[in-house]
Amino acid sequence: MIIDVISLMPEMFSALNYGITGRAIQNQLLTLNLNNPRDFTRDKHRTVDDTPYGGGPGMLMKYQPLKDCLDDIYNHKSIAQAKEERTSRNNSKVIYLSPQGKRLQQSDLKKLTGWEHLVLICGRYEGIDERLIQQEVDEEYSIGDYVLSGGELAAMILIDGMTRLLPGAVGDNESVVNDSFYDNLLDYPHYTRPAEVDGHKVPEVLLSGNHEKINQWRQEQSLLRTLQRRPDLLDDKNLSHEQLEIIARLKNE
Ligand SMILES: C[S@@+](CC[C@H](N)C(=O)[O-])C[C@H]1O[C@@H](n2cnc3c(N)ncnc32)[C@H](O)[C@@H]1O
Repeated sequence: MIIDVISLMPEMFSALNYGITGRAIQNQLLTLNLNNPRDFTRDKHRTVDDTPYGGGPGMLMKYQPLKDCLDDIYNHKSIAQAKEERTSRNNSKVIYLSPQGKRLQQSDLKKLTGWEHLVLICGRYEGIDERLIQQEVDEEYSIGDYVLSGGELAAMILIDGMTRLLPGAVGDNESVVNDSFYDNLLDYPHYTRPAEVDGHKVPEVLLSGNHEKINQWRQEQSLLRTLQRRPDLLDDKNLSHEQLEIIARLKNE
């Protein structure tokens, strides 16, 4: 997968050179291109921002450097041609990270991994000129109901979460499938050695070596956690007969 980031602070993305994302970049599962709109300014001060029409506080990212940056990524095709090509072949999507976008979910990350190429636009200041959003942006994503000072951290969150889902990025794919939200359930609790620490023991079943019982316990714990902490997730989940029985029993207990 290829990701082009548009950001005034591309240096921030060095954080992705570590861990799973770093390995995915090294192994060429992920190609990360960093594009700075400042390199596409046309005045000697390299101006990327201006005051908002109508007055009011703050500055806005200007249309032209962002548009020229996008044109460069799309090899200077017209907006219509680039848009037609990128959407009809399902191969490229332009995303603006914005507090006003759709709240990013695990299922969105999964869907986004189906695209060959993503462009992630990171806003700064009060955001970006609305005309660029209307003309060029395919989707807007928010990472939560709070306002950050820039889209870079949000873009990194999207890239990190999505990279985990790229085949081969995480050593053992089973760990991804068991992660919270993958199947609208929270993950079960985990323990590692020693079997007893400060008087606290690992649940007996995990030491039994009986994999069927261990799987049952994990499934039950996963349902229990979801029921206790995020019952809303269960509303959107197709529960099996077995899971419904476990839930009924847990509710009784
Ligand atoms: C200070 S914010 C602008 C907020 C904007 N005035 C508003 O209230 O909708 C600057 C940039 O940070 C990014 N940003 C802030 N909060 C975000 C969030 N929750 N999710 C994704 N991006 C966010 C966006 O790219 C935004 O353009």
